[in-house]
Amino acid sequence: MLQTLSNQSQRAASGIMTPPSLIPGFALHDKIAEGGFAEIYDGEELISKKKVAIKILHPRHHTNKSEFKRLIHEGGIGMRIRNHDNVVKFLQVGKAGRAPYIVMEFIEGQTLREILRDRKTLNDREVVVLAQALASGVHYMHGEGIVHKDIKPENVMLSPDGTIKLIDLGFAESLTSVKWSLFGRSLEGSPAYMAPELLRSKKPSPATDLYAVGCTLYEAATGSAPFTGHSDQEVLQKQLNMNLAAGSIREKNQEISPYTERLILNALEKNTSNRYKSVDEFRLELRRNPHLNNSSKHIPLPTGFAPRRQNSSARSSSRNRISGT
Ligand SMILES: Nc1ncnc2c1ncn2[C@@H]1O[C@H](COP(=O)(O)OP(=O)(O)O)[C@@H](O)[C@H]1O
Ligand SMILES: [Mg+2]
Repeated sequence: MLQTLSNQSQRAASGIMTPPSLIPGFALHDKIAEGGFAEIYDGEELISKKKVAIKILHPRHHTNKSEFKRLIHEGGIGMRIRNHDNVVKFLQVGKAGRAPYIVMEFIEGQTLREILRDRKTLNDREVVVLAQALASGVHYMHGEGIVHKDIKPENVMLSPDGTIKLIDLGFAESLTSVKWSLFGRSLEGSPAYMAPELLRSKKPSPATDLYAVGCTLYEAATGSAPFTGHSDQEVLQKQLNMNLAAGSIREKNQEISPYTERLILNALEKNTSNRYKSVDEFRLELRRNPHLNNSSKHIPLPTGFAPRRQNSSARSSSRNRISGT
């Protein structure tokens, strides 16, 4: 034990500390996921004994200035928007040695990606419940002047108690940011969820978030994203093709009501003037949905929908990056 502590202190002093050590006030337990630039651990706040999740810069990026800035930026954005049940709550941001970290509430459950891997599709009520939660969370973010920019099944978590939360503010940006692309001129995101106008102008907006919500719901309803292909390039070409509309949802899943289908397809309109004007308009339209008779934010999900916690080795979360030309 003493040996371990002394090794940790030595590593800390040299600035190449391994993540689980020395985040004041917190104990870190297991690595639960690893992405391109950060690792996620579960842990505990020592005083309150509350379970937390800690996102910390991957040791291989400790000297990478842009990844360092990215995590600091994510921390700053997250600390500004801590007041909504459908957006992950950041509790603290800091720096351990050379590694910036974010302490967040721990969300029990699974990502929508994991649930879809198991279930393939959701039913109409579940899609509507998901739509309501995403729209509320994204509407809140837009009201706070922030665009999420990376809405996709990997970045939505569902808990057994019915809570649905958007996570991963790694790409999120302020709407008033003078420089749209904080990290250079490259356009970042996952091709399957990127609106045509985003690909053309490289300018994220509330409308491009709404499009990504539409793609995510389409995938939840049908089992695959609206535009797929063998390569990112093929997907991007389909996103950009203004004459190519997303295919029928009900042809792929008859359980989805015509009302829900219309709503999702509208969010996926290639031309922004045909899309709902805002996530708020989408949200209000959703409320008129006859299938949604409970306006509470904590809508219990139907039995059988309760996600199981994956407790095997750390999940890997990949982030597709594409560069705009
Ligand atoms: N607050 C949280 N509670 C529980 N698990 C989380 C939390 N935040 C992230 N995770 C897990 O870590 C994974 C990666 O987190 P994310 O913030 O999306 O990182 P990345 O930027 O690498 O995509 C998520 O897909 C999820 O499985
Ligand atoms: Mg992610």
